[in-house]
Amino acid sequence: MPDQSIKITGPFRQLLTMDKLPLKGSLKDAQLEIIEEAGIVHQNGLIIETGQFKSLCTKYSFAGITIQPIDTDLIVLPGLVDPHTHICWAGSRENDYALRLEGKSYAEIAQSGGGIWDTVNKTRHASGVELNKSLISKSSRQLSCGITTCEVKSGYALNLEGEIRLLEIIKAVRQEHPIDLVSTCLAAHIRPRDFEGTANEYLQYLTMMLLPLIKSEELSNRVDIFVDEGGFSAREAENYLKAAKKLGFDLVVHGDQFTSGGVHLAVNLGAKSVDHLEVIQSGEIKILAASDVVATALPGASLGLGCTFAPARRLLDAGCCLAIGSDWNPGSAPMGDLLVQTAILGTFEKLTNAEQLSAITFRAAQALGLNDRGILKKGYLADFIGFPGRNYREILYNQGMLKPRFVWKRGAQFF
Ligand code: NIG
Ligand code: FE
Repeated sequence: MPDQSIKITGPFRQLLTMDKLPLKGSLKDAQLEIIEEAGIVHQNGLIIETGQFKSLCTKYSFAGITIQPIDTDLIVLPGLVDPHTHICWAGSRENDYALRLEGKSYAEIAQSGGGIWDTVNKTRHASGVELNKSLISKSSRQLSCGITTCEVKSGYALNLEGEIRLLEIIKAVRQEHPIDLVSTCLAAHIRPRDFEGTANEYLQYLTMMLLPLIKSEELSNRVDIFVDEGGFSAREAENYLKAAKKLGFDLVVHGDQFTSGGVHLAVNLGAKSVDHLEVIQSGEIKILAASDVVATALPGASLGLGCTFAPARRLLDAGCCLAIGSDWNPGSAPMGDLLVQTAILGTFEKLTNAEQLSAITFRAAQALGLNDRGILKKGYLADFIGFPGRNYREILYNQGMLKPRFVWKRGAQFF
């Protein structure tokens, strides 16, 4: 029997609700709603109310209430949302990394047999049990770092059975692990070397054979494509994305990492987000700001490749909705620590605490099309995390090394 009692968790030294903030544009810390000596009332995994702990205890002082007392100073935020990862893979690419340290580029390494194709070979040969175990372990690490919702892409099998297998593994882990995993089909990562045909023919094959299967098996409702050097051209991507949209998928684009083209496509087709944006130009920033497409920066890939960061400050000042994802993958972003990466992007790009925290809570939820999380208010998921401390500014000041002491997912405490 699920526990249906009403619970009050608290008191918390500070509670950041992330409520009443605009979805787009720059933010000042003074705009943050902070409740001191706060509590959260929740039931069945949903928030009933937030407010001052003492008055909540008085208001709900009738039978059947459970008080979950906290006897340490905590700063509480909504559970973090990582809107972009590739954490379903096998193997490791430390040799690619060493080659990059010697000066080789990502594209050169891919051409000489490393890169994504290397991970595809290792993932295809890994057993389901191995992949399942690895995804569970990465999901647990994410949860312990305060991430209560995590997007996961396929894209390391690049054939029909393999891509289905990866999406099935993500679905299985979603069912057994407390973290919410949101799956995305990235079969259009690169053209697989063993596919006999052009890039266009590969995309047509995916459209005809793979996407309908994913829909009917309810394995994902999101389709992503790598639009760049080494991936697909914007022209090739357009037909594929249009077909995916027709089938009812939400769209996502890996765009403007090395070359431009992805932003126009994402905006024209009404994608949920366009991710990377390291080389985005002023014209595209304007177009993106005028749209509802979320701009997702991936500082972990800049750190992994030793490249510039996406111009997060300019994106916000232009009025974009900025999310930040870890891009955790074995090639470009092996670190996989969203909070560290957010803090590093924040210091280089001059992002306020409010902008950084929004980018990994409700704005990241927007990138996933989820409007039930990322804010602590009535009716939203009781996903919340508590960092030791007395002032919310301690979190990013510690540049990601201050980890949550407690993580609650749908009202249940996990760490
Ligand atoms: O987002 N650029 C394309 N895809 C991933 C990298 C994947 C890999 O190198 O294995 C990214 O950076
Ligand atoms: Fe990525």
